Amino acid sequence: MKTKVLTLLRENKDTFLSGEKISNELDCSRTAVWKHIDSLRKEGYDIVAVQNKGYQLKKSGSQLSEHDLVSRIKENNLFHHVVYHSLVTSTQVIAHQLVNEGAREGTIVVADEQTAGKGRLGRTWDSQHETGIWMSLILKPLVDFRQAPQLTLVAAVALARALQNKSGQQIDIKWPNDLLVNGKKICGILTELQADPDRIKSVIIGIGVNVNHEHFPQEITDIATSLKKESGKNFDRAELITDILDEFSWLYEAYLTNGFSLIKPLWEAHSLSIGKKVIARRAKDSLVGIALGINENGVLLLQDETGHVHEIYSADIEI
Ligand code: BTN
Repeated sequence: MKTKVLTLLRENKDTFLSGEKISNELDCSRTAVWKHIDSLRKEGYDIVAVQNKGYQLKKSGSQLSEHDLVSRIKENNLFHHVVYHSLVTSTQVIAHQLVNEGAREGTIVVADEQTAGKGRLGRTWDSQHETGIWMSLILKPLVDFRQAPQLTLVAAVALARALQNKSGQQIDIKWPNDLLVNGKKICGILTELQADPDRIKSVIIGIGVNVNHEHFPQEITDIATSLKKESGKNFDRAELITDILDEFSWLYEAYLTNGFSLIKPLWEAHSLSIGKKVIARRAKDSLVGIALGINENGVLLLQDETGHVHEIYSADIEI
């Protein structure tokens, strides 16, 4: 009910809504409306009350919340089951637990802070309090194992489009899934699978976006950046999450219906590596060559100096 009160206030944010109107719309008592407004205010929402006019939402609180996110997500969006925690070890860990408990596709786990954020290749991910977007998306696509890496690229395209539209900054993708602004990392994606021997049970896409950071730990300060550092502005994280989910939702549906052919050119349009000489650092060796592009499975094609084209499935790319 609190979510519904918030949705109504947000939908009518240019005007005042009387307690009576809210209670009629939501079929509840005026006292119940007042209690929900009071509770929203305690969470940090600036809701003004003017006699004979009613209530108006001025500004959302800085903390994320489940009902705030649900109230923003469009009806037809795939992701409307939101699990919010203010503090977790890692949203990936929670998402895996939820899958084991039967969570449905379209569930998202969001946190305001992670104490043990996981990065790719066993690294940690700096996840400061209320500064960034730390979330994991649970998907259950009926696709073959070999297609799973494509989903990371779908996520990268969705993020690049959403962040670029919102911030006006050029967002580049470094294969497979680093998003950069002016050569520094602004967003990372960690895709993990749960699988039976013959099929994918679920794909958990972990997304970390550096949004309002002013500082980073010393060891990453030269390689990491945030939307705020690049543009000098603060961004509303809940609004950004909704934009990301909007982009992801339609691209994922389009991918399931039409395959990777729609995603590939969108990915390439943001790609930083194509046509450039790169070093692909793999677990056991490194390869130097020209990045030709990606194939239909999202695998990177790297041409070495002998002309041989290597398919790169997993590596760190240095440009
Ligand atoms: C990378 O190394 O580039 C991937 C980083 C992914 C970080 C996100 S933050 C939300 C989710 N939970 C985690 O523990 N990791 C991912």
